[in-house]
Amino acid sequence: MGVKCKAAGAVLILLLFLGSLWLQGGLDYHWESCLKGYNQVNKLHQLSNSSGADGVEGPQLLEACPDQTFQVSLLLSHLLAAPAYTSDVLLHPYLSSWDELVKFMDALGPMVGLISKEIESKTSTIRQLALFADENREAELGPDIRSVNSINANAEDSQHTGAYHSVRSMIGAELNRGVVDFQHQTNSGCRTLLRLHRALLWLKLFLEKLAETPVAGRLRSPSDLCREAYQSTLAKHHTWFVRRAAELAFIAMPERVFFFRLVCVQNQEQLRIVLNRVVQAIVEVYNRTQKALEENGMLDLP
Ligand SMILES: *[C@@H]1O[C@H](CO)[C@@H](O)[C@H](O)[C@H]1NC(C)=O
Ligand SMILES: *[C@@H]1O[C@H](CO)[C@@H](O)[C@H](O)[C@H]1NC(C)=O
Repeated sequence: MGVKCKAAGAVLILLLFLGSLWLQGGLDYHWESCLKGYNQVNKLHQLSNSSGADGVEGPQLLEACPDQTFQVSLLLSHLLAAPAYTSDVLLHPYLSSWDELVKFMDALGPMVGLISKEIESKTSTIRQLALFADENREAELGPDIRSVNSINANAEDSQHTGAYHSVRSMIGAELNRGVVDFQHQTNSGCRTLLRLHRALLWLKLFLEKLAETPVAGRLRSPSDLCREAYQSTLAKHHTWFVRRAAELAFIAMPERVFFFRLVCVQNQEQLRIVLNRVVQAIVEVYNRTQKALEENGMLDLP
């Protein structure tokens, strides 16, 4: 008891705060059971071999990794399925990518797991908005229209295939409906996407650093790399208090061998190859989202 116990208590409280403040303005929605079901369905994809479905034209997909909840192969296939048309991103695979990234963060221990809870609430928000939009549309148009819901490259048509079909269709639809507030905090899909988008840059940078293999010298600890990635990305959007709490969470991060196991590789060289493919796929998605948000002046939504 005594000092140690109090210190542990203080750390815990800080971390709980961190969890809720992480992405600024936590939202109350927790549709976790909903997400769980969704994850189960997606898991089936990984069992099928390369042909068909996701990311047909992309680089060869990775194999499933036994005994892990997080599946890097699944993450990669969702990321590769997200870019659409010349400059758009499909929201369904985008959010599925986040489901897998949440599992990745959860695997890093309870500290980082608290952060992932906040991200889950953001993905739930967008899914709920999409669901409401679908229901309203069906109510307006009658049941027959449901079957028309298919792939359509035309921007005008994409509104008819659901406002939350893609990043650009969501931006367009929310601007039309006037639900994006440029002055005050709301829970529009656009501002929620912006929070996810910023967090994606942090994870991309962290994975990129983990993949780095110095020619001379030692590999650096994941804990240091994650802190560095944070400092040059998310930290600038956070208050002093959240930044301090984040540093605490990174201290408890596992060693590098843990990451080998997590993606089923034996050494740094193999880790580099796997992570670089993931990073490449993230960059494609990130750049497209960035461009769409930028073109609409949405990079600073409160
Ligand atoms: C899976 O794909 C790989 C490479 O495309 C191929 O070598 C392998 O035989 C396939 N396995 C099955 C079970 O189809
Ligand atoms: C993504 O954007 C960055 C910065 O704007 C740029 O340097 C990079 O080449 C882009 N990559 C891709 C794949 O679009």
